[in-house]
Parts: sequence; C-alpha cells; structure tokens
Amino acid sequence: MSERSCLSIILAAGEGTRMKSKLPKVLHKVAGLEMVLHVMRAAQSAKGGDIALVVGHGADRVRAAAESFMPGVRTFVQGERLGTAHAVLAARDAIAEGYDDVLVMFGDTPLVEAETLVRMREGLAAGLDVVVMGFRTERPAGYGRLIEKDGALLAIREDKDCSEAERRITFCNGGLMAIAGRHLPGLLEAVGKDNAKGEYYLTDIVSIANDRGLKVSAVEAAYENVLGINNRSELAEAEAIWQERKRREMMLSGVTLVAPETVFFSFDTAIGADTVIEPNVFFGPGVVIDGGAAIHAYSHIEGAHIATGASIGPFARLRPGADIMEKAKVGNFCEIKKTRLGPGAKVPHLSYVGDAVVGAKANIGAGAITCNYDGYGKSLTEIGEGAFVGTNSSLVAPLIIGEGAYIASGSVITDDVPADALAFGRARQVTREGRGKLLRVKLSAARKK
Ligand code: UD1
Ligand code: MG
Repeated sequence: MSERSCLSIILAAGEGTRMKSKLPKVLHKVAGLEMVLHVMRAAQSAKGGDIALVVGHGADRVRAAAESFMPGVRTFVQGERLGTAHAVLAARDAIAEGYDDVLVMFGDTPLVEAETLVRMREGLAAGLDVVVMGFRTERPAGYGRLIEKDGALLAIREDKDCSEAERRITFCNGGLMAIAGRHLPGLLEAVGKDNAKGEYYLTDIVSIANDRGLKVSAVEAAYENVLGINNRSELAEAEAIWQERKRREMMLSGVTLVAPETVFFSFDTAIGADTVIEPNVFFGPGVVIDGGAAIHAYSHIEGAHIATGASIGPFARLRPGADIMEKAKVGNFCEIKKTRLGPGAKVPHLSYVGDAVVGAKANIGAGAITCNYDGYGKSLTEIGEGAFVGTNSSLVAPLIIGEGAYIASGSVITDDVPADALAFGRARQVTREGRGKLLRVKLSAARKK
C-alpha cells in the first residue's frame, strides 16, 4: 500500500459557536495539543501523505498553529460555509495533482486513530472506490445514517433528510472517508444542494458513486474515533477518553501508576519503564523521563527531562528547561526552571532554582532561592560540583559559586565565590549574656503601669 500516493484533506473551517469561545473550535486542546493537530498527527502516522488543511473561521490562527507543527503544510480557504463537499472542493488544486488515495477527515475529531485510516486505505488498495468509516451508536440523532444492502453501502442519509424508518438505523457516518483520487473530482462535481440544509453534502458522493457503478463500502470503527467535538462538555469527554488510552499504554509499557485515574499526560509525554508515579501528578507538554525514576504525589511537570534514578516531589513543580540528571533529587515545595541539576545533586525542600547550572552532588538547602530576575532580564547562577548552599540563602545572579564552596545559611550572596571557599553574606550574630532576662523585667513593668 505504501507505494500508493495519498492526500489527507482535513476540514477545519467551522466556527464552533457552541464552544462559546473566541478561539476557533479546532484550536481547543486535548492533552495539551490542538484538536486539529491531533488529526494531522494521526494522518502523519498513517502515512497519509500530503496534508491539505481547509480553513475558514479564524483562518490565520488555525494556519499558524498548523504551520508551527508541520512547516510547509498546505492550507486552503473555504470562504463561505456551503457544506462538507464544498469544503473539500476548496482543496481542488491539491486534488487535481492526481493522488491515488484521498482521505477526508474532520478537524474536530481529535481521537481518530491512525489504524482506522490505514484500514480505510487498505479498502482502496483492495479495489474499492469509496470507503466510509461507520460506527454504531444507540443515539444516532444528528448523524448521517449508512444505508447498506448486502455489504455494499448504497447511500448516506443526513439526519434531517431521513425517513422514519431510516432514522432508526444505528449504523452512522463518522465523517471519515477514503476516496480513489481519480474519481473524486467527478463525484464532487455531481453533488447538488437539494436537501434539508441546502448544503453541498460530501456524503452525497456515496449514492452518486453507486449510480456510476463504483464500489462503495463502509468499515466499522470504535465510537471514540469519530467523537466530534462541538462543546466543552464533549471536549472534556474526549480528554477523558484520551487520558484513559494513554494511562493504559503507559502501564503496559512498564510504568507504574499507583492511581492511574489521577495522573494526566500530554500528547507527547514519554516515560521509560520502571518509573513509579504516585497519585495526582500532572504532565504538561514536553516531558521525557528516561526510566527508573520516582515521581511522588502532587507534582506538576512540564518541558522537563528527568534522568534515571531521579526523585521528584512530593509537591514539586518542574517548569520548561528543567533537566534533572541521574539520581538527582527535587523534594517538596520546590520549583525548578531552566536549570540543569547535575547527577546526585539535591534540592530537597522549599527552593526556587531558575536559570541555573548545578554541579554533581551539590546540595541546595531548604529555602535557598536563585534571584534570577531583576524585573528586566534573567541572569545565570552556576553552582559547582559538590558545593553546599546553606538554608535560606539568596543567590543574586549573575553568580558563580565554585566547586566545593560552602555558603553559610541565611546569606545573601552577590559576589562570586571561589572553589572551596566559605562565604557569609549576613550580619554577624551578637549575643549579650543576661540581657534577655533584663528585657523581660522591663517589659512586664511597663505593662503593669
Ligand atoms: C457530518 C456528516 C454526517 C456525519 C457527521 C459526523 C456531512 C454532510 N454530514 O455532519 O454524515 O454523521 O458529520 O460527525 O458531511 N465543515 C467545513 N465547511 C463546511 C461545512 C463543514 O469545513 O462548509 C467542516 C466542519 O468544520 C466540521 C466538518 O466539516 O469539522 C463537519 O461539519 P458539520 O457541520 O459538523 O457536519 P455534521 O452536520 O456534523
Ligand atoms: Mg459535526
């Protein structure tokens, strides 16, 4: 099949008014990725060839998102919204290039699986001219019904155009279609708008193809594949199904999830085997864990790399650019941003470490903070191997602390500290014998007056 050329047309022109949002519908996210990009990814992993994205409402924003994900992706504008066949025709220049297979997908079905697309293309490779993806539901209202006879698909009847009997059919059009490229221009040309909505329905090509003696069939796929998102409740439903799939995939690949239903992943989260994830952990985009790490409860992690044997949390926040190396430790109530924490280094409690490079086995005491921002720009803090930063120190960047240096607790460090030096950055303590007692006498006498 791989030698057959393919064009994937993704329809994403809809406004999605029921989202009640300024954001175009297809840019709402599932697992941290815009819905339309999920569909593009599925097309990509099904080797769906070239992608043509049909945009309309919010065209510039949709195009920008698509372009950042897949530079050079072709977009076509559907000026007026006259129906799904009309939308496909917006990509007529791409279709005219003569692909063997054309896949039509909707930009608001983020759970579509590559495997389904592959199956549809296999149908074309086996000699079918049009393959429609169908699904079964007990609540078919709103969907086009698949009218079959002896395994052949005769027509798709849109909900509003159904007879009483047809309305009872529970085998529905999911909206995905695979069409032999050489027949598509002729089929689209024949679509009229004599229907309840007065739209050019893509679904009409099924009966047209039958009239022309072409071979048309439906393949069945799971309902999630075609869950079309129209409002935020359906968006949450898609998110839940996606997370469910991902948790299972993670566990089967060797990751322990103590309470899977409380762990949330992003579209690109990658975790190696033998990592243990405690309850209530959230992964934003861009996280890679090599394996054999421990992620303790209530941690929020995004844009971070965590190496083997590292320990994170409980209650840790890793922000973009956190690079936690082998056996390093980030403990409770710590925030780490754009920082490389060397092998075996520790930030055990209550710290903020940002824009820093921390050497192997360095220890950052409780409450130590890198002062990386002066209100205008960010500066770097370098902490050498084996350095010890005492509790509650403020490290005012730019700053270099040498290997093995020792920073006294409570210091405000503004100047570089050489290797193996001991630096104090605080007022010396003054102790006066007996003066505590005297003070008490004085204060209580004043109170009695
Ligand atoms: C469509 C199908 C229906 C199927 C259902 C599955 C048609 C005529 N009907 O109905 O058989 O059961 O999806 O969810 O195809 N779009 C455009 N431009 C347009 C019209 C639509 O880009 O002019 C895009 C929409 O943004 C959306 C998709 O095409 O992504 C489907 O359009 P929609 O109006 O949701 O069609 P349905 O009535 O749901
Ligand atoms: Mg729809």
